Amino acid sequence: MYRIGKEEIKAIEKVIKSKKLFRVKEEEGECDKFEKEWAKKIGVKYALLMSGGGTAALISGLVGLDIGPGDEVLIPSYTFMATATSVLMVGAIPVVVEVDETCTIDPVDVEKKITKNTKCIIPVHMVGFPCNMEKIMEIAKKYNLKVLEDCCQAVGGSFRGKQLGSWGDAGAYSFNYFKIISCGEGGCLVTDDRIIYEKASIFHDSGTAFRPYAKEFSIPIFLGLQLRASEIMGAIMRIQLKRLDKILKDLRKNKRRIMEEMENVSGVEFAPSNDIDGDCGVMIPFRFENEEIAKKFAEISGGYRPIDSKKHVWFDWKPIIEKKVWHKERLNPYNFPENKDLRHTYTKEMYPKSIENLSRTVFIPVNPDWKYKEIKEKIKKLKKAIEESYKNGT
Ligand SMILES: Cc1ncc(COP(=O)(O)O)c(C=O)c1O
Repeated sequence: MYRIGKEEIKAIEKVIKSKKLFRVKEEEGECDKFEKEWAKKIGVKYALLMSGGGTAALISGLVGLDIGPGDEVLIPSYTFMATATSVLMVGAIPVVVEVDETCTIDPVDVEKKITKNTKCIIPVHMVGFPCNMEKIMEIAKKYNLKVLEDCCQAVGGSFRGKQLGSWGDAGAYSFNYFKIISCGEGGCLVTDDRIIYEKASIFHDSGTAFRPYAKEFSIPIFLGLQLRASEIMGAIMRIQLKRLDKILKDLRKNKRRIMEEMENVSGVEFAPSNDIDGDCGVMIPFRFENEEIAKKFAEISGGYRPIDSKKHVWFDWKPIIEKKVWHKERLNPYNFPENKDLRHTYTKEMYPKSIENLSRTVFIPVNPDWKYKEIKEKIKKLKKAIEESYKNGT
């Protein structure tokens, strides 16, 4: 979370004073209004705000896409474990794909990993870096696959001028505490498809049968989870949305300033971007000729190598590596007969390209509130770190 203040306090106060904290009511409330505003911002027909974070949005999206036992879902080797968890929660199996130099899913490896069991691709726009959505959508079309974009770390980003989340069949966002805009926890699913929206709506509000809006659904009601957002969340998110463009503008400006100052420094190279204009600006990716220099630079600069980021790289997803899913073995998708012939292994050796790309890259986080003086100091520190890394690293 970057910015929050008086406006959010005022919005919450208004909700509390109204004593209408439950989103389901006759008149349009804060959640309904946010969903309309968010759908407009992303350029899609439907948005569904929910509690339970980006994880809930991803799971609801997979439900909407009808993914389940017998299905393989392609996910990148570099993502928060929740991407993989979501796939397992609907009874399907996550299959890991390499990331390329951009640290996002490698379209070449996506195509290589497709089998007759593959049903869906989840490109993840990690640390605000847009995936190559043109290539992903081309592949999805060729093999008749669904695409669910994980935009949890790239709220407001775009690829070739089109908002992330609007490229695939559906998109999921996180508004947890660590994200670009936030209401503490929370997530949102977007889609243009009425059936995906209806399925996700039913799933996220188990018991929708007796809700006033249930009569508008064209599909049968089924049980799901209780993931409804509260009006307090809706109210905060409406203010956060108003802040989004300025946060992104400041992040991008500060990132650009640092990169421009650093690009001619000897030894400096940046990891390529699929679309620097659509990048959210939250991270500067330095790329080094070998992992020793990268390690040194990370140590001296205060940045980090994505390979060391824990829980965000496939070999650190302990419960998945150990196949510990749910509290009862009979509920564990790895044991389902439908999943018997699917790919279940996730060894470190399987993804050499990811190891190389994630080890040779160092991320430097950017803050939108840095002033000119702080940026100057940052640049000075980074230049020194480069110099020292090469001195010690070669
Ligand atoms: C890439 C990615 N996907 C999914 C999630 C899950 O979001 P949440 O924590 O809001 O459930 C996160 C959260 O950090 C994430 O970074």
